[in-house]
Amino acid sequence: MVILKRLYSVFHGHRSRTTKKKSRRWEQRRMPSKRHDCIGWEAAQVGTTLRHFYTTARAGAVRLSDGGGPFGFDVMVALLVDDLLRAYQFDAIIETGCFLGDTSDYLAHRYPDLPVRTCDINSEYALFTRRRLADQPNAHVDCLDSPDFVTWATSTYQRPLFFLDAHWGEAWPLQRELAAITRGVVLIHDFDIGHPRFAYDTYNGLVCGPQVLALMPEPPPVYFTPDPHADWPLPCLQVGRRAGIGVVSLGLDPEPLHEHPALICHELYSETVVTT
Ligand SMILES: C[S@@+](CC[C@H](N)C(=O)[O-])C[C@H]1O[C@@H](n2cnc3c(N)ncnc32)[C@H](O)[C@@H]1O
Repeated sequence: MVILKRLYSVFHGHRSRTTKKKSRRWEQRRMPSKRHDCIGWEAAQVGTTLRHFYTTARAGAVRLSDGGGPFGFDVMVALLVDDLLRAYQFDAIIETGCFLGDTSDYLAHRYPDLPVRTCDINSEYALFTRRRLADQPNAHVDCLDSPDFVTWATSTYQRPLFFLDAHWGEAWPLQRELAAITRGVVLIHDFDIGHPRFAYDTYNGLVCGPQVLALMPEPPPVYFTPDPHADWPLPCLQVGRRAGIGVVSLGLDPEPLHEHPALICHELYSETVVTT
């Protein structure tokens, strides 16, 4: 019997060759890298994110160990989404696993001109979030298994941003979600970024980290994680559990990720070994 086994090796902390050049380009396009340097339009954008982020109700506190809130109450992820939106001009934001809708609520209010689609496999959570977002015409909540939802989204939108946060059940859907995405920028929540301050998930012995990417049918050559020491224009007020995130571009130009001054590029080498 032939067994196909995928091995991977990952090199953490690899900085892109273009770091200096990319920082300069991003500074022209987006926020200054120093917290207090924001002026004009830039400051207004950060101010809008600040207002929406910290006024979103943290309903998820009833169960989530991080106390709920958008993106696990880590404003850095919200600022990163702002930047990626400007660079990629996404045509939709797709979240998997809405629970009580903290992140969905934030996204729908922060980006009222973009479709914000989310799902949950639990009908009560989906219904709760649907009611919570009833006054947001750009938001839509489905009760679906996330890989089916992702399959639908990937065939419907040209340039979607995915926020993959569906888990808790016996059947962790992340591998099936990733396999279904043909095009988009993907943020994976609770991802191992190799830093002790940032938590990550493990299901059935499989760490939510580069290992999962290596198991993809077509693993991406590189992935990105936020630099824990990067200077953002807003402080993170999450004093409890802070989740790591992994970022990959699938079927879209990865250059804006390489250029982002607060993202670290990691190379993911995979090979197929045949044993008998
Ligand atoms: C950590 S919570 C999501 C938190 C939410 N994204 C937020 O930011 O507030 C995980 C959610 O994923 C849902 N879930 C688990 N497996 C799923 C699947 N296969 N399809 C869709 N949702 C799923 C769970 O029911 C749960 O509500």
